[in-house]
This record gives sequence, C-alpha cells and structure tokens, in this order.
Amino acid sequence: RKAITVPGIRARKGERPIVALTAYNALTARFVDRHADVILVGDSVAMVEHGLPSTLGATMEMMILHGQAVVRATSRALVVVDMPFGSFEASPKDAFRNASRLLAETGCSAVKLEGGQAMADTIAFLAARGVPVMAHIGLMPQAMMTSGGFRTQGRDRSDWERLHEDARSVAQAGAFCVVLEGMVEPLADEITQRIDIPTIGIGASARCDGQILVLEDMLGLNDRVPRFVKRFGDLASGMNTAIEAYAQAVTGRRFPNENNVYKPKES
Ligand code: KIV
Ligand code: NA
Repeated sequence: RKAITVPGIRARKGERPIVALTAYNALTARFVDRHADVILVGDSVAMVEHGLPSTLGATMEMMILHGQAVVRATSRALVVVDMPFGSFEASPKDAFRNASRLLAETGCSAVKLEGGQAMADTIAFLAARGVPVMAHIGLMPQAMMTSGGFRTQGRDRSDWERLHEDARSVAQAGAFCVVLEGMVEPLADEITQRIDIPTIGIGASARCDGQILVLEDMLGLNDRVPRFVKRFGDLASGMNTAIEAYAQAVTGRRFPNENNVYKPKES
C-alpha cells in the first residue's frame, strides 16, 4: 500500500471518504496506520496523555516528541501535527518558524491550526513556503477562554454567514483540507458543498468528505465524552479486568507462576 500524500488527500473531495483518527504514540499509531488515511497528532494529547485541563497547555516540545513517535511507527497514513496554542497566532513569521520545526524535527507531512478568517493570511504564508496546512474551524478548543466553553456552532442561523466566511477564506488561503468541529449538520453540509477542499467532520455531518475522532474516545477509554463520539469499542472494561486480575494474582501469589520464572541449569 502506497504512502498517502497531501495532494492525494486534497483529491479525495467528493470521492471516497477520508478516514482520520488521532494517535500520540508509536504503539497506537501502528494500529491506526493499518486503517486510516490521516493520523492527527492532536493537541488533545495535553488532556488525554498529560492530564491537563484543556488543550491550552500543549507545548511545541510536547507536539514534537509525540509527533516523532507517531512518524516512526507510520508507513502509509499522512501524519499531521497540531500547532499548539501560542505557536502561530502572533504573526505569520512565528507560525512559519514553528510549523517548519514541526515538519523538520518530526518528519510529519502537514500541520493543523485552529482559526478561520483571522488565520487566512497565516495559512497563505505557510502554504506559499512549503508547509501544507489543515485548517480547523467551527468549535475551536483553543478559543475556549474567549468563547466561554465548548459550544456547538451554528445553532443560531445568524452565525452561519461568519462560519461560511471562515470556510471560504481558509480554502482560498490554500489549506489542503479543513476540520469542521462541533457545528449543526445542515451548516456542515452546506460548507462541504460550497468549498472545493475536503471537509473532515467531528461532531459535524456524515456528508463531510471525511471523519475524525480522538482514538481514546472511540475506543471507550475516556469516561466522559461529547455526544458526537460513538464508542466503537469498550477497551476500558478490558483494561480494568486485566489490571484487576494482575493485582489479585500478585497478592494471591499466583503470579509469577512456573512458566514466568527462570530456572538454573540442572546439575
Ligand atoms: O486535537 C485534536 O484531537 C483535534 C481533533 C479532535 C480534530 O484537533
Ligand atoms: Na486539536
């Protein structure tokens, strides 16, 4: 199976849906790479793997370390690394400096950044200098302090024009695809029809050109997930059962057993 490229993803508009998932480490990336077209090293790593209260605490160092691990374990999927809060907003030059570090130091194929019209100049600046950009509009977790939390976008039709403008401007700026997060379904459908780059939905619509979920959420490893997450597995109970069985075997001196210990040479 051939490695997936940025133009390859761009060409999937209106074709076979794009399968995307997050992964933050080599172990999980190896599994995801067998089935997904795109692996996102999301800044959600700050919450899922580091226990931080929001994505605002994600750092360049964190994204680089996790990005390197995922790239090492991936042979087919396109690896995209999230630009963390504070690494791209101040100026296009800052954004280029940090995006080029992500590309060069991890070997990933593209970066993702949150923001619509406000980030269009930055996206154009990056795209013109060899950095493929996945945009991210709608519900933007990095904006939680200004937006007042996680709110589904477009419930009020008066917001649709602004959201259409965000989609139009990131597409025109040269983003190769765009994540539509947490927005009402008919708006996600309209955006998907109106722009010529693939839309990748999360809490958006089945009519988007692709879908993405946080791996640990869809595996059933997170106890609190938003309504848009479908649990495709229940790994939490499997993990619990195994760890409990281990604890009982250790306290009951049933582990290690004779198969798990080394014996000296017979004399
Ligand atoms: O950080 C992340 O995991 C994301 C996806 C949910 C789109 O941005
Ligand atoms: Na993210």
